[in-house]
Amino acid sequence: LDLDQIDTDTLLGILERGHALKRGTAAVALGLDKPLAGKTLVLIFEKNSTRTRVSFEVAMRQLGGDVIVLEGDKSQLGRGETIADTARVLSRYVDAIMIRTNAPEKLAEMAHYATIPVINGLTDAAHPCQVMADLMTLREHKGTDLSGRVVTWSGDGNNVANSWIKAAAHFGFEMRIASPDGLRADRGAVEWAQANGARIVEGSDPEALVTGADCVVTDTWVSMGDQDATNRHNLLRPYQVNESLMAHAKPDAVFMHCLPAHRGEEVTDGVIDGPHSVVWDEAENRLHAQKGVLAWSLLG
Ligand code: CP
Repeated sequence: LDLDQIDTDTLLGILERGHALKRGTAAVALGLDKPLAGKTLVLIFEKNSTRTRVSFEVAMRQLGGDVIVLEGDKSQLGRGETIADTARVLSRYVDAIMIRTNAPEKLAEMAHYATIPVINGLTDAAHPCQVMADLMTLREHKGTDLSGRVVTWSGDGNNVANSWIKAAAHFGFEMRIASPDGLRADRGAVEWAQANGARIVEGSDPEALVTGADCVVTDTWVSMGDQDATNRHNLLRPYQVNESLMAHAKPDAVFMHCLPAHRGEEVTDGVIDGPHSVVWDEAENRLHAQKGVLAWSLLG
């Protein structure tokens, strides 16, 4: 359900398979041309999506499988059918469920009652599929050994930040979080990562925390469901990733953003369209990382 519930070898295996599928060596990676033929994935969305929806659909189809999309408000979930009953029924029809929901409890309930794999397509607490794509991108640009690298998150400690923090425990990079008081990353994520050997540095000085970074990451200041947009904008304005802030990172640092971006808010055009940006590689890697996730979930 997030990167604290998977061991490093399994995570590496998913990423390696994603890299192999991206290189087109699917036959090597899986031994078959259409390895998911006869398999069906259902995608449940209670929140908006472009990348997650399209990349999962394309991934499934390219691997030979089938996909069904359930919009939360158009299924019986939207009229009060329980997650538990939905999980039991879907388990009789399909081979895996991906769910995007605000509440981590709903994801956990789906996983508890389903008898098939359940994939976390984002909750307010975590976004592991995104961070697997981010890790693929970082490995492509900085090499597969990420120990000793520095990744700086600038912005509020949101669901994506939480999954990045957990990734640091698997890959040995230093994770720095620049965020204002009141919008810090989840304490549970930080404590789990530290207990598992990660070096996590938190503070409220983005310039100091970006200094010497190999990778700078940010995200929208107002996530789906956040109510206090004006207050968040005021708090987060000093954390904008702009050309001046990027100048403190290493000259060959990469810039990442999971998208959608709010240009002029958390990032300037000059950065997202500039030489450090790898955001289009990152977006593409959603497709490849999720192929790795699907192959692991459905084939082992
Ligand atoms: N980054 C991400 O999850 O994009 P979508 O909201 O478009 O799926």
